[in-house]
Amino acid sequence: MTTTASPVSGLIQKMETREARIGIIGMGYVGLPLALLFSQERFQVTGFDIEPEKVAALNSGRSYIVRILPEEVQQAQAAGFRATSDYSQIAQMDAVIICVPTPLNEYHEPDLSYVTETVKALAPWVREGQLIVLESTTYPGTTEEVIVPLLERGNAHGLKVARTLHQPGIHVVFSPEREDPGNDTVARHDIPKVVGGCGPAATQLASAMYGAIFRRVVQVSGPSAAEMTKLLENIYRCVNIALVNELKQLCMRMGIDIHEVIDAAKTKPFGFQAFYPGPGLGGHCIPIDPFYLSWKAKQFDFRTRFIELAGEINTAMPHFVLEQVAIGLNEHSKPVKGSKVLVLGVAYKRDIDDLRESPSLTILEMLRDKGAEVHYNDPYFPTVGRGRHYDLNMTSTPLDNLGQFDAVVIVTDHSSYDYRAIVEQAQLVIDTRNATKGIDSPNILRC
Ligand SMILES: NC(=O)c1ccc[n+]([C@@H]2O[C@H](COP(=O)([O-])OP(=O)(O)OC[C@H]3O[C@@H](n4cnc5c(N)ncnc54)[C@H](O)[C@@H]3O)[C@@H](O)[C@H]2O)c1
Repeated sequence: MTTTASPVSGLIQKMETREARIGIIGMGYVGLPLALLFSQERFQVTGFDIEPEKVAALNSGRSYIVRILPEEVQQAQAAGFRATSDYSQIAQMDAVIICVPTPLNEYHEPDLSYVTETVKALAPWVREGQLIVLESTTYPGTTEEVIVPLLERGNAHGLKVARTLHQPGIHVVFSPEREDPGNDTVARHDIPKVVGGCGPAATQLASAMYGAIFRRVVQVSGPSAAEMTKLLENIYRCVNIALVNELKQLCMRMGIDIHEVIDAAKTKPFGFQAFYPGPGLGGHCIPIDPFYLSWKAKQFDFRTRFIELAGEINTAMPHFVLEQVAIGLNEHSKPVKGSKVLVLGVAYKRDIDDLRESPSLTILEMLRDKGAEVHYNDPYFPTVGRGRHYDLNMTSTPLDNLGQFDAVVIVTDHSSYDYRAIVEQAQLVIDTRNATKGIDSPNILRC
């Protein structure tokens, strides 16, 4: 990479010597770990968030994400990390990385309001030569069509986005986040970082910045290719999970164990990657991101049929689980109505403290609507209140008297659960995660 003649070479050098100041907007599941990673690599980091409780927690050395220890926040603090809600501090940053939510609205369409509000708030403070990176997952075109105009209109100095190597201005990049919460097998810095800038200087700058913390940076031709890369990755997961969810239902009818089949298929050393069936999709990514592309595709008079079909199959999975609970109870000559049912796990996946879009919430609500007396247990959630799509107001039930429940439904297979003890004590176990693999009991219904 030839950088000596470029006007960004000064900032590239600051990235390499760790003198660059990094601002990260959105101190959530993505932004906070990223801030800590930059801090560990000796960068001066400022975390921006609109939630005063998060800012206060971080500035007093506390963490609000289970897998991030308070000591990690304290170490970052000792190295200069600070949190703030004051956007005027953006002016002091050399690079600003945006990690705010990108949910769907009630019509299942992209809700970019967090992104647009953030960009409107930071634009007045943007200065010449700064690097602005969007990491939030979104549809191809967002950076060019939404971010760039807001930045150019909103900044106080009439700055434009730099399109060529020697043009002065703001450097704008899209670089998707590839965080996999709960995955301890791949170190964060070993996950290659994709970057696509609005111009070559922007791509160079972002590569220098991320190259300081990630082992490999993958440059693509521009922001749209980077935005689409992230969606391809998540759609690939969504479609493959739908495939095994559908095949699981067929296998159950045919008396075949889908997990045995997947385990056998994955011994093939090429052309196959294992995905596992479950009670439905959860989290902020897989159930949501594909619909960002479906929405955008309509502008091009194009239907994304794989996404729609996968969405249909995956969103039906909680209904399938409900059906299985009814079948299991029926075997014990009990109706759903009036039965006492315990749902194990409300987090959307194993060993994490995130319940966004969790299928457990839907399953709990459906069971309650059918007249069951519902309870839940989750070591990560002592209580579950109200969210955008649920209203539960429940408290986690201790696991000391499992015999009292007519059915125990394993929805999230947290590793802290003793599945053998659960099967021994429970009257009926509905296992949606193959968590009871190897345990032999007539009281288990695997689905
Ligand atoms: N969580 C994941 O595993 C994951 C993985 C890959 C990509 N992503 C993507 O990363 C993005 C962020 O996800 P997340 O899980 O970190 O969300 P999150 O809800 O955990 O965190 C977002 C943070 O942004 C803050 N925020 C909202 N508006 C703001 C504003 N105007 N100014 C400052 N702060 C603001 C919120 O208070 C919150 O703390 C999303 O686009 C998501 O799709 C998430």
